[in-house]
Amino acid sequence: MNESRRRLPLLGGDGHSGGSRSSMTCLYRCANACDHPAPNTSANEYFGDQVEAEVTRRGVLKAGSAGAIALGFAGATAGVAAGAAAGAAPAFAGPAESAAAEGFSAASLHASGGPAALTFAPIPPNTLDNLVVPNGYDHNVIIRWGDEVVPGAPDFDPAAQTGASQSKQFGYNNDFVAVLPLGRGHDRALLVCNHEYTNENLMFPGFTTLDALSDEQVRAAIAAHGLSVVELERVGHTGQWQVVTRGRRPYNRRITALETVFAVTGPAAGSALLKTAADPTGKRVVGTLNNCAGGVTPWGTILSGEENWNQYFVGGDGVPEEAKPALNRYGVSTTARYPADSRRWDRVDARFDLTANPTEVNRFGWIVEIDPFDPGSTPRKHTAMGRFKHEGANVIVADSGHVVAYMGDDERFDYMYKFVSTRKIAHGDSYWARKQNLTLLESGDLYVAKLDFTSAAEIDGTGKLPTDGAFNGTGTWLPLVKDGRSMVTGWTVEQVLVFTRQAADAVGATKMDRPEDVEPNPVNRKIYAALTNNTARGTTTGRGALADEANPRNANKHGHILELTEDGGDHTGTTFSWAIPIVCGDPADPSTYFMGYDKTKVSPISCPDNVAFDSKGNLWISTDGNGLLSNDGLFATALSGPEAGHLKQFLTVPRGAETCGPFIATDNKTVFAAVQHPGELTGASFDKPASTWPDGDYSKPGIVGVWRLDGKPVGS
Ligand code: FEO
Ligand code: CA
Ligand code: CA
Ligand code: CA
Repeated sequence: MNESRRRLPLLGGDGHSGGSRSSMTCLYRCANACDHPAPNTSANEYFGDQVEAEVTRRGVLKAGSAGAIALGFAGATAGVAAGAAAGAAPAFAGPAESAAAEGFSAASLHASGGPAALTFAPIPPNTLDNLVVPNGYDHNVIIRWGDEVVPGAPDFDPAAQTGASQSKQFGYNNDFVAVLPLGRGHDRALLVCNHEYTNENLMFPGFTTLDALSDEQVRAAIAAHGLSVVELERVGHTGQWQVVTRGRRPYNRRITALETVFAVTGPAAGSALLKTAADPTGKRVVGTLNNCAGGVTPWGTILSGEENWNQYFVGGDGVPEEAKPALNRYGVSTTARYPADSRRWDRVDARFDLTANPTEVNRFGWIVEIDPFDPGSTPRKHTAMGRFKHEGANVIVADSGHVVAYMGDDERFDYMYKFVSTRKIAHGDSYWARKQNLTLLESGDLYVAKLDFTSAAEIDGTGKLPTDGAFNGTGTWLPLVKDGRSMVTGWTVEQVLVFTRQAADAVGATKMDRPEDVEPNPVNRKIYAALTNNTARGTTTGRGALADEANPRNANKHGHILELTEDGGDHTGTTFSWAIPIVCGDPADPSTYFMGYDKTKVSPISCPDNVAFDSKGNLWISTDGNGLLSNDGLFATALSGPEAGHLKQFLTVPRGAETCGPFIATDNKTVFAAVQHPGELTGASFDKPASTWPDGDYSKPGIVGVWRLDGKPVGS
């Protein structure tokens, strides 16, 4: 155990990364990818004390057994129809019928409707160890780490977890959330979640060091990665959802890093770069790792990004010298057999030892596609979409019928990408249409973004707007693979797809400030990217980059949102324009910007991570690593009309957590969010938790649903 882990739990983190992220999170989530410590300040605790005191003074704080808090509202659960809808187990609808019945055709995600006012009263920043929602709303914890997923899963016992038990239970550190209507009614759904990473300090009673874990505990940790599919039912006619706990639940499924087999698709499938001793075909990979954000396709499948997979491999010092630059470009250590705080999964599975299995690492870093409506289906890794630290992928159907996926590579100074399918979407709800659509991501063109600037000379790194009043410009999608051919001189298609970062380096892509979620807005069809932060911008000698118009602040601590508009509305095209609608931070900070809206009325926001849209096209933003000494949260703003830029905070998550997901139900009656890594503060452990959310004992990641007590659509 290193010195930093012996300190007492800190409120709000110790500022290890760009925001206020605790160094424990940096260690477990991304193996200290942003190793730029900044001192903690006494303002941290002072700020939290101030908020708690104010809330208490107003006499409106209300905590329930599951951590329910409604600020400014008493009787949060009054008026909610209690209990599950009674009756027989839900009828089984076949996979194809089920997806089709709920309208997962090409048009279904093209929501209509103009801007709608977000009428909720914003909640204040706070450091409470609870989930906080606006006045007039309530929430429930739908599922948490250790809950049953596969019917018959063993009861959760953190002192006796095994790979087998965890493989049937809800995994750790839920990130992406999707809720897909199931059947023909409006009262059943499938919840699909990613489980990004584990924090063994917080998972195992008596934890001392990673090396001291038993092999069975290591297997449990591996199995706590992956995804979960869980059937939900609506409570009464409300926006509240709960897990179905009876009947066959045929869709319920765990996909794990321990044993789930993935098929590899696309041009690099079967490549020598992907072959291993255990898989001489190069087409079958066990497991998925560090699944962060994702997206829902128009044909009803889930895309999930394999992000910080580099940290799971040891033995990088023993690979051939010529293999080391590629490993280094992806953050895999090549200087020590066991980098500091290695998870040591090689103890139970030699494929995590690069010295023995140097190509296993190439089998991670992909977009994976899961069909939750076909529980027997083999999940796939799509090589045509490139290999990097994939945050996620979100698809829009172009006017031509091709499908276009937008993707971010979440690393400081890395890139934004898009994929354009070779084939066109098949419309209609037939079995054959869906079968065809399931192949759309297996072949296509891959591009990386190069941004050009209109006011480059005026960018001084402070965030000061240029004289034309906007950070904006034009851009080009640079082809990496097109029409089945490599567009990178001297590179094969397989090399471009497996070593996509270096290929993008070679064509001159634009270095961005940690591009995370990149998602098309289904209403205005523009693309929105969360650029989380980059404190190394403009401050790193010999690498990185100075501020530019698209990343306009040096030492960018709070991040920003980029809006991208494809020229002519053609998502398959190669030119676009871009602008920055939101520059995050404390609105009192002159470098912030909120679409020109009155800054005295907007909520402070820091470190945007995931973006989502409701059916009206409003932008929802979740945060990871709040650098303003408040808990992370979820925010929303209209993007057009008089309320454009009126960003308001909708919820905050408990101490030490980041907010993920988020997912707004298609009927706008429920906001789903993932509470990831509650209590992950330096010095915390299972036995000495920094958060007791959600059950009052020790911290457990979980999924919450938030709904409006009067039954009206959320936010409007
Ligand atoms: Fe897993 Fe980029 O956050
Ligand atoms: Ca993320
Ligand atoms: Ca998203
Ligand atoms: Ca994040």
